[in-house]
Amino acid sequence: MTLSIGIHDIAFATGSHRIDLAELAARHGVEANKYYVGLGQSEMSVLANDEDVVTMAATAAKRILDRGDSRAIRTLIFATESGIDQSKSAGVYVHRLLGLGSDVRVVEVKQACYSATAALQFATALVARSPEEAVLVVASDVARYELDSNAEATQGAAAVAMLVTADPAILEIEPITGLYTEDVMDFWRPNDHTTAIVDGKLSITAYITAAISAWQDLAGRGGPAYDSIERFCYHQPFTRMAVKAHRKLAASVAGLDDEAADAQVAGTLEYNRRIGNSYTATIYLALATLLDGDEDLAGKRLGFLSYGSGAVSEFFTGIVQPGYRERSRAAENLALLDARTVIGDERYLELQRFSPEDVANFVTARETTGPFRFGGVDGYKRVYEAV
Ligand code: HMG
Repeated sequence: MTLSIGIHDIAFATGSHRIDLAELAARHGVEANKYYVGLGQSEMSVLANDEDVVTMAATAAKRILDRGDSRAIRTLIFATESGIDQSKSAGVYVHRLLGLGSDVRVVEVKQACYSATAALQFATALVARSPEEAVLVVASDVARYELDSNAEATQGAAAVAMLVTADPAILEIEPITGLYTEDVMDFWRPNDHTTAIVDGKLSITAYITAAISAWQDLAGRGGPAYDSIERFCYHQPFTRMAVKAHRKLAASVAGLDDEAADAQVAGTLEYNRRIGNSYTATIYLALATLLDGDEDLAGKRLGFLSYGSGAVSEFFTGIVQPGYRERSRAAENLALLDARTVIGDERYLELQRFSPEDVANFVTARETTGPFRFGGVDGYKRVYEAV
């Protein structure tokens, strides 16, 4: 009998603040519906100055650890494109904040928004070799573009943590996957930039090409039939992107009209609509929101399209496990989104423009509502502490 391996638990964290996209629309001189309807985004998370990818990742992972599991975590894989150091893995800070043992391997992986999916696949291979071990995968990112650019409305921030084990309680990941890689300059962030450079129109066509090509690879390798897939979770730089890409796929593979296609991504959009782009994390926020919905998906197959600019994409599938709802955090998750402080454009701009005069030494003000904070930098050393 083959071993069942997949996601045993999943939890997310985001920033302490949020801004309604109508505020940005007013500054940009466009109708709010361009963002609400055209991009499918209602608001976006904004980090406090004492929050970053480490504090969000540790907070998401803490929610998993607090619930407990008897299997020892032996590996922590930190997926991000918002790296805070050119050498040291952000995961090592998370390892300390969580109080994990010294017998845990920690590494950071990068390929734009795709790398959390690579981490998940690597994790399944580690568990296949040692089924008594668990792997903690954390995807954590802050999406930043130039202020006043047309990409500004597609920012956001969040982390998703997943515990990957044998006999998972939530989602068994199936072994056949579809891959597509192509060197394309649709979005990138040079080492001296704090914001990404993007060719918006090219990025949309590159995403759609990569989605369809990864599906074709999956189909060519004997992957599950299109009709056997109940719902599709996409990478969501903005939720309308998932709808657009799925319409193309559904029409080309199954001859479905837009209405039928939209029904297959229904239930996967809500958390990302409220958080904004969180790069590596969005596809797993799509899964979280789907699992938190009213529909019982036990035994159903889900499809996943992971896309990272530059570009790498992967299509894979998984089976929702019976009893998955016993692990639901739906009420907690909604409360977490609602609890974010609503800020106006003035405060948002202040936070976005924050840039310390002395990068080697600075102290951040206490602001986060989360359990961990980024205290600043002391002699070029980043300081993290439990609140
Ligand atoms: P834009 O060019 O200003 O927007 O920026 P637009 O003019 O194309 O309008 C957007 C949509 O709003 C259009 O809908 C308009 O018709 C509609 P569509 O025709 O496409 O269906 N619209 C309205 N709807 C209702 N009422 C109105 C109204 N006005 C207009 N009043 C763009 C859009 C996405 C280009 C920009 O935000 C951007 O560059 N974002 C960043 C890039 C991005 O997110 N790309 C997505 C694919 S690449 C990817 O996913 C990877 C990524 O996550 C990075 C990584 O991998 O690390 C980005």
